[in-house]
Amino acid sequence: MTTIAQAGRKSTEPLRPEPATVLEVIQETPNIRTLRLAFDDPSVMEAFSFLPGQIGQLSVLGAGESTFAISSAPSGSGSFEFSIMKAGVVTGAIHELAAGDRTAVRAPMGCGFPTDEWKGKNIVLVAGGIGMAPLRSLLFHLLDNRGDYGELTLVYGARTPADLCYEAGRADWQQRSGLDFTATIDAACEGWDGCVGLVPNVLEERGPSPENSVAVTCGPPIMIRFTLQSLSKMGFREEQIYTTLERRMKCGIGICGRCNLGPKYVCTDGPVFSLQELRELPEEL
Ligand SMILES: Cc1cc2nc3c(=O)[nH]c(=O)nc-3n(C[C@H](O)[C@H](O)[C@H](O)COP(=O)(O)OP(=O)(O)OC[C@H]3O[C@@H](n4cnc5c(N)ncnc54)[C@H](O)[C@@H]3O)c2cc1C
Ligand code: FES
Repeated sequence: MTTIAQAGRKSTEPLRPEPATVLEVIQETPNIRTLRLAFDDPSVMEAFSFLPGQIGQLSVLGAGESTFAISSAPSGSGSFEFSIMKAGVVTGAIHELAAGDRTAVRAPMGCGFPTDEWKGKNIVLVAGGIGMAPLRSLLFHLLDNRGDYGELTLVYGARTPADLCYEAGRADWQQRSGLDFTATIDAACEGWDGCVGLVPNVLEERGPSPENSVAVTCGPPIMIRFTLQSLSKMGFREEQIYTTLERRMKCGIGICGRCNLGPKYVCTDGPVFSLQELRELPEEL
């Protein structure tokens, strides 16, 4: 069975949020914002490292704490990012934050993608909506270490052009040699001359080979379900497919039992799982 990668700063007080400040807020879509943050203590910031796929807990005083994928490049120094969709109480309060506001963060948590095991393989990334957040961090890692991997394919879809995140990143990915990038929207609309079609269909049209490849998918459950069917039809086996799971979390360190999935905890055993692992757990996908 694949060993999912674990790394990062190990705090001696994992339940204590570390003070951090918002450096920048980027409005990605009408309901998604990316926050660039830095720990207030320069030595903590300096020592901070994470693997693509790892998560953090961001808190707003008086509102609470929520879990998010770290969406920035693991190699980036001096700051890190979360991309946050407004869903309710905590994410609503996070969307009120502006540059200069104080927050607190517990990170990194969980397991990242096993990128060392994937060296020499072709990588296929399939994302929908806010599911691009953990895959963005992974993509940065793959591009920063381009020589270690084979062909890279990314299919990223959203309902409308306005719902696609990372405008500057997309412009860069579009002209990168060695990256087959397709951004797609669900239905044709005025002003969009790019790809139109649902993510799993577009993936099948791009047709990346399963030979010596790994596929990673993240997005709404319905998209993941149909993407898994497409990958299977294309010849990808369960051990070649990875995803990240979402479960309500509290402690984030495997003690409260809130995020359990059969014998596993999403906060410590995940959020990254291979499809092969998930098939052994109670009806997840
Ligand atoms: C491992 C992991 C990674 C995540 N990464 C991201 C990310 O990168 N960006 C992002 O925007 N969100 C991410 N989420 C989801 C995010 O944690 C929730 O949307 C957030 O906690 C909602 O908090 P809230 O207090 O604003 O919403 P609440 O007021 O608590 O709830 C609002 C609505 O969202 C539902 N909800 C709340 N939490 C979850 C959840 N975890 N899964 C499904 N439905 C939920 C509630 O049932 C309710 O209907 C992630 C969650 C997990 C567990
Ligand atoms: S969030 Fe507490 S055990 Fe996972």
